[in-house]
Order: sequence, then C-alpha cells, then structure tokens
Amino acid sequence: MRVAVLNGPNLNLLGRREPELYGRATLEQVEAMVRAEAGRLGVDVEWMQSNHEGALVDAVQQLPGRVEGALVNAAAYTHTSIALRDAFLAVRVPFVEVHLSNVFAREPERHRSLLADLALGVVCGFGPQSYVLALHALTGRLRAGD
Ligand code: DQA
Repeated sequence: MRVAVLNGPNLNLLGRREPELYGRATLEQVEAMVRAEAGRLGVDVEWMQSNHEGALVDAVQQLPGRVEGALVNAAAYTHTSIALRDAFLAVRVPFVEVHLSNVFAREPERHRSLLADLALGVVCGFGPQSYVLALHALTGRLRAGD
C-alpha cells in the first residue's frame, strides 16, 4: 500500500513557527515519525510540502494511480481553497484531513474547512501524533476496503 502526505504553506517552518501552538518538532522530524510508523504498517509514503496553492492542486491531481490514499494538512488553504476542494472532488482519492493544532479551539475562521466534508475524517489537536493517528485511520479504512 502506498499513501501520500501533502503539507501546505508554512509547515516547512515547523519547530520555529509559533512553537506554543505547533510544538518544537520540525517537519523533517514529523516525516520521520510518519515513515517509521508506515514502515511498521507496511505502507510506502510519498511526502511533499509546498507553500503554493497551485503546486498542491497539481499534487492532488497526480494522486490517482500513484497512491491509494492521502493524509492532507493543507494548513491555511484548508480554510480558503476552493481550488483544492475542486481537485479532491475531481480525483476522489480517499484522504484524512490532519492538523497539528486543535483548529476548533482557535479563531473562528479556522473552524471552517473546505475539505473536511470530502475527507474520510479529520484528526486535529495532537501535534505530530495527529499524523500518526491519521495514518492508522487511513490505512485501516483502506485495508477494510470501504
Ligand atoms: C494547521 C492549522 C491551520 O489553521 C493553520 O493555518 C496552519 C496549520 C495545523 O496543522 O494545525 O498552518 O493546519
């Protein structure tokens, strides 16, 4: 089984960016955690991060045929991007929405996601562990075949 992990804008700054909200782990450390857990689950991981909406749209368009599912932390684009929403509507690849922080405990504009209703589910608020929990949820659903 192969899954993609898509990371949106400013996540490349993890570790130095608002550590009180996002913690001290760098994105490379989060990636290492996910790859280690994926190894235990027998899953291959394609990892990407981009600060550019169009690059993320391109990455979503390239998911079919490459991977069976995805973890998606679209960061701020979660709350704004109709283009990303349209890309997921077009490709119909199963995905889990992920956030490090509990977006529902934050400003009102972060309570709305343009992706969540298209996702299998949403995991937020557990820091880097959100990715690991989401990986388990995604692979469990994919293996169950539903
Ligand atoms: C985030 C939450 C978003 O609201 C924010 O814009 C981010 C990170 C998270 O992982 O907690 O950049 O997606």
